[in-house]
Amino acid sequence: MSVPAAVLPSVPVRILGIDTSCDDTGVGIVELLPDGRVNLLANRVWSQTVHARYGGVMPELASREHVERIDEVMGDALREAGLTVTDIGAVAATSGPGLVGALLVGLMYGKGLAQALNVPFHAAHHLEGHIFAAASEAELRAPFLALVVSGGHTHLFDVPRDGEYVLVGATLDDAAGEAFDKIARLSGLGYPGGPAISEAATRGNPDAVPFKEPLQGQKTFNFSFSGLKTAALLAHRGGAAPEDLAASFQRAAVNVLVKTTTRAAHAHGRRTVVVSGGVAANTALREAFRATDLNVVFPGRGLNTDNGAMIALAGAAAIRAGRPASPLDGGATAYAPLANA
Ligand code: KG4
Ligand code: ZN
Repeated sequence: MSVPAAVLPSVPVRILGIDTSCDDTGVGIVELLPDGRVNLLANRVWSQTVHARYGGVMPELASREHVERIDEVMGDALREAGLTVTDIGAVAATSGPGLVGALLVGLMYGKGLAQALNVPFHAAHHLEGHIFAAASEAELRAPFLALVVSGGHTHLFDVPRDGEYVLVGATLDDAAGEAFDKIARLSGLGYPGGPAISEAATRGNPDAVPFKEPLQGQKTFNFSFSGLKTAALLAHRGGAAPEDLAASFQRAAVNVLVKTTTRAAHAHGRRTVVVSGGVAANTALREAFRATDLNVVFPGRGLNTDNGAMIALAGAAAIRAGRPASPLDGGATAYAPLANA
């Protein structure tokens, strides 16, 4: 496969990134410098609260709220960066995967903006965005391994060359974040469940509820979280305290994520591992990864959960790698695998 030559701009290029794949309206701005370095200039996210009363994201409400908020979020991002819209030299927006109606809002907005400014447009993959969120902390150059662990995804990719993704493992059922959310809900700890479990776990006993770590001792690099969810439900019915349930579940989930990822990194000969997505904000998970022999890179503050800056960072990587701009007639896709092998 021929790899396009790296294309570095002769002057700094400000890239505006948009993510409206689910229930967060995110706009971020980064700057790609002539030496290839990337600076984060702004990251603004409007998190929709309208869904809380339904216990899950209502797609139509998400789309409408993106429409109502996106102008304001972009204005805030430009102010944070100290820029005006004409300073933007490229636009990137998520085209998938995600809720199609929600994706379309940011995608059409991004295309319209690029066209009005007469600058290149880059359609971005949501998971590539999550991975490149870590580029805010360290220069991200292949080869590396990437664990994307969020409310909708638990995917392990090997990245042998820049822009090439090989799926080496994934969840067979629920995403890790989904398990955090559902267990928090059943034990009355609130929504979103990740931060609630993480906080409650500091007050609980991780030995109180025995959880069997799923798929350990197997040769694959897949994950499973639905068994932990069922075990949590049974423990809850059996009278386990929410704090103990949180501490015990969190330890099992963290162990599974860290052990499987470490095994995959060793099997693929990778030392650098990116851990990103909403669950990567978890303190216990970060500590456990830092205790391994791997060079683990996490996204910077505010870049774990969905945001626009990660899409701008993915756009910067695409420009730097010499990828051509995307056509303006491409659509949004609900299901879009990242792996190209
Ligand atoms: O990346 P994200 O915003 O959305 C998806 O693309 O899915 O991730 C949201 C998920 C939720 O399930 C949330 O509970 C989880 O990330 N999360 C956490 C923490 N903060 C957010 N999970 C564990 N510990 C946290 N501190
Ligand atoms: Zn996400």
